[in-house]
Amino acid sequence: MADPHPPLAESIAAGIAHEVRNPLNALQINLGILEQELSEIVPDRASHVFEVVAKIARELRSLDDFVTEFLRFARPPRLSLETVAMRSLLADLTTFIGPECGRKGVSLSLVVEGEPEAVEADGFQLKHAVLNLVLNALQATPSGGTIVIGVRGDAHELAVEVRDTGEGMTGDVLPRAFDAFFTTREGGTGLGLPITRRIVEAHGGTVAMRSREGEGTVATIWLPVGPRAR
Ligand SMILES: Nc1ncnc2c1ncn2[C@@H]1O[C@H](COP(=O)(O)OP(=O)(O)O)[C@@H](O)[C@H]1O
Ligand SMILES: [Mg+2]
Repeated sequence: MADPHPPLAESIAAGIAHEVRNPLNALQINLGILEQELSEIVPDRASHVFEVVAKIARELRSLDDFVTEFLRFARPPRLSLETVAMRSLLADLTTFIGPECGRKGVSLSLVVEGEPEAVEADGFQLKHAVLNLVLNALQATPSGGTIVIGVRGDAHELAVEVRDTGEGMTGDVLPRAFDAFFTTREGGTGLGLPITRRIVEAHGGTVAMRSREGEGTVATIWLPVGPRAR
């Protein structure tokens, strides 16, 4: 039965979706109209006023991205289950994020051990969960470093590992890394790992990280294989 009193985070999420996202979208649309009308009265595209418009547009986009990420965090993930072959999901992900790693001079590879079983999962959300780990790895790894996505499994469990040779975490950062809004990055939201954890736990799995300062980090997702217990 539906909970008549949704948890606080969900009510806040609904409020934000309505009270923040709608006006934000209206602002973006109206800024587009303003820019178009301006260009009819100010013929010089190099004019300062267009820089101001572009700056407002960038700020609105970054606010919009934050709201999207916050909602992803605050709303419980609703899973749309399908049979997911982890090998091809991770291959897609590697193809998607590989160029960005290449631009930074970081090598990205995928290592599949054996023939991991397919899982009943929401492929889109699971990909997002792993992507957050890879993005963190990329942000922490300087040029010349490596990121390896590994997957292995048996009849009961599947493990997806993201291993980087980046800066690692100090003993006071590691225990807080999964806390909502905890970030050490300028411009970070601190929501990537909490979102990953929510998605993984919604699949009946777990996620953990180990790290050594100056040497690198390993993040591992474990997922149950076979008929879902719930
Ligand atoms: N692979 C990693 N290497 C080093 N530090 C990491 C790594 N992954 C996460 N962290 C730390 O955990 C913090 C929280 O990560 P996250 O929840 O994704 O938020 P954000 O990426 O917005 O900072 C990061 O700011 C960073 O300090
Ligand atoms: Mg992150």
